Amino acid sequence: MNSDLIKDRTYKISEMADNLIGSEIIQLATEVNKRIAAGEKIYNLTIGDFNPEIFSIPEVLKNNIINAYNNGMTNYPPANGLPYLRKTVADWLNESMGLDYTEDEVLVSSGGRPLIYATYRALIDSGDKVVFPTPSWNNNHYCYINKAEAIMVETDSEKDFMPTAELLEDHIKDATLLALCSPLNPTGTAFSKENLQAICDMVWEENQRRDSSQKPLYIFYDQIYWTLTYGDTVHYNPVQLRPELRDVTISMDGISKAMAATGVRVGWATGPKYIIDKMKAILSHVGSWAPKSEQYATAEFISDRNALSSYLSEYKQKIEDRLDAFYNGFQKLKDAGFNVDAIAPQAAMYLTVQFDLKGKQTPDGDILNNGKEINQYVLNAAKVALVPFSSFGASTDSTWFRLAVGVAKMEDIEPIINQLHQALSQLK
Ligand SMILES: Cc1ncc(COP(=O)(O)O)c(C=O)c1O
Repeated sequence: MNSDLIKDRTYKISEMADNLIGSEIIQLATEVNKRIAAGEKIYNLTIGDFNPEIFSIPEVLKNNIINAYNNGMTNYPPANGLPYLRKTVADWLNESMGLDYTEDEVLVSSGGRPLIYATYRALIDSGDKVVFPTPSWNNNHYCYINKAEAIMVETDSEKDFMPTAELLEDHIKDATLLALCSPLNPTGTAFSKENLQAICDMVWEENQRRDSSQKPLYIFYDQIYWTLTYGDTVHYNPVQLRPELRDVTISMDGISKAMAATGVRVGWATGPKYIIDKMKAILSHVGSWAPKSEQYATAEFISDRNALSSYLSEYKQKIEDRLDAFYNGFQKLKDAGFNVDAIAPQAAMYLTVQFDLKGKQTPDGDILNNGKEINQYVLNAAKVALVPFSSFGASTDSTWFRLAVGVAKMEDIEPIINQLHQALSQLK
């Protein structure tokens, strides 16, 4: 038998898996990293991750994890998470947002992603409509996997790319899920109280209209960046503003972005028990528990409010310094007459920037026609890698981009702005 032949042979697989597309952001970042590995000097501002040398996880959290392993916490955790962590999370959310969940209404998992997957699985049947704003992160993929009909509602810079009740109202009739995120990836902007309140009221009215044989309109609220707000920005949760939506709202967050702990893998969802129990059952077959030691260590760390707040204030300051420095750099480019713009930092680890360069001619004589071509030009001419909003479901015409600061060194920001200046000067 020729084993090479067998190794190379492929058969038909599920249609879903066959047509699944990976994350465009990861694809872009991988391409950029390949060029970096081949010796090119590129500033890679594409990925929503942290350089641990700049942004480390809390020292106490790290030591707690090591101690927990040394103390033998290496067997299965309970399927919905350690009671200690669930209770700690419920108390923290109560203290921070006035949310009133029991520990049985908290589900712990290995980061935010499994919980998004479980929310979709628990609520969505094939063909159900899921409404979400674009640009936003990955809802298109979760819709695809769950055979949902994705109803994408494009937002604009005038409202900081946040959806409004006015924008959404024509799309929610007969929809099953409204997927919201604040602070929002990719924009680093957040809902105002009034805006979120109006959306909540719209959902409430829509549900009053439906009869009990129908599914209600559920809200999935991704608040994984909620601890990262700056200046006057305040984070709000739908159930905090409208407690009557408690029965139809699932919220999700975790430590990935709150503690620069993307590789540690602890996240949680809160919601009514009847949905949380089903999500737990779904994930028990996936086995996406957060490791027991990490869960215990996270609970210990969050319980120590002094350690938590001193870590958060230092960590947030470092992110904000970078966002401000990039924002000021873009203002300088704008003042110099270039067609660029930026939205002042509000939250998360992203700056929304614009290169309004459609129709401009490059030194090679090419005309820039869309966001992807502008992105390529900025990458090749300025050696700065960003993610176009079209990778987050916005139209290919969009000239807005996500700039992520989790791997940016302060000393690199001036050279980056200078290189952008140089590249912009070469366009006609
Ligand atoms: C908006 C948003 N939600 C959820 C996640 C997933 O977080 P986790 O790494 O905990 O799975 C991310 C990660 O980038 C995100 O940006």
